[in-house]
Amino acid sequence: MRLLLPLPGNETLAADLARLTGCALGELETRQFPDGESYLRLKDDVAGRDVDLVCSLAAPDRQFLPLIFAADAAHDLGARSVGLIAPYLAYMRQDKRFQPGEAISSRSFARLLDGSFQRLVTIDPHLHRYPDLNALYAMPATALHAAPLLADWIAGHVERPLLVGPDEESEQWVAAVAARAGAPHLVLRKTRHGDRDVTISLPDVAAWRDRQPVLVDDIASSGHTLMQAARLLMQQGLPKPVCAVVHALFAGNAYAELQALSSRIVSCDTVRHPSNAIAVAPLLATALR
Ligand code: R5P
Repeated sequence: MRLLLPLPGNETLAADLARLTGCALGELETRQFPDGESYLRLKDDVAGRDVDLVCSLAAPDRQFLPLIFAADAAHDLGARSVGLIAPYLAYMRQDKRFQPGEAISSRSFARLLDGSFQRLVTIDPHLHRYPDLNALYAMPATALHAAPLLADWIAGHVERPLLVGPDEESEQWVAAVAARAGAPHLVLRKTRHGDRDVTISLPDVAAWRDRQPVLVDDIASSGHTLMQAARLLMQQGLPKPVCAVVHALFAGNAYAELQALSSRIVSCDTVRHPSNAIAVAPLLATALR
């Protein structure tokens, strides 16, 4: 029977997945040595089994080594195959050399994961310049889409929504969410000047003043994209927006700052966060089945 092994912080999701799919749920022992190095032990017999590690990669620099140690241990101990279920897949946004000398970390990260895993399942990876995940990853990689989940939440919770994508990159999500929710949508234009410095331009939205704007994006990281878009919508007389995101990273004070500019913030539980309102275990379960 297929075995799911959660990395720390992913136990609830793995348990939900095991319940929905009938996979077995295993356990890892992890701790830090006094010098900060990671200790890792598989508590289950993996010989001859298909094993999937469950790890949402919202803190990849800290999570990476234990993840690789677990995968390599599973291989060493005779697992038939080792996969990775990462509801949030990190290092997708540096997909080109914007400045001379920059590392294209999306490629390096993919190469490193390819070295230890034989399959990957994730949700809405940030695919902008890569046409799909298999253009980046050598192992078979499945990208699931949360748009239907966001659309159903919006249709059930927001009256007269107007879906707004804060930048051209969000068009792919917003258009799909809007079509399913049966709502109109528009997409703003964003220029990024730095990690926390974005300029957004807005068309004339006066005609939509009787609508509840819902800002939809794949990731909230510094939150500046959503904050800037929310301010501009309100400047044109629209109500405080609802913000709906797939991956709620919310670095630093981003969540509190965005709360002040939004009527509500909701996210999928790909990354554990107080804004989580939409469960992704049933979506992931479809891929495992
Ligand atoms: C950008 O291309 C993404 O779709 C998000 O809009 C972006 O990553 C959000 O970043 P931040 O919250 O730092 O503005």
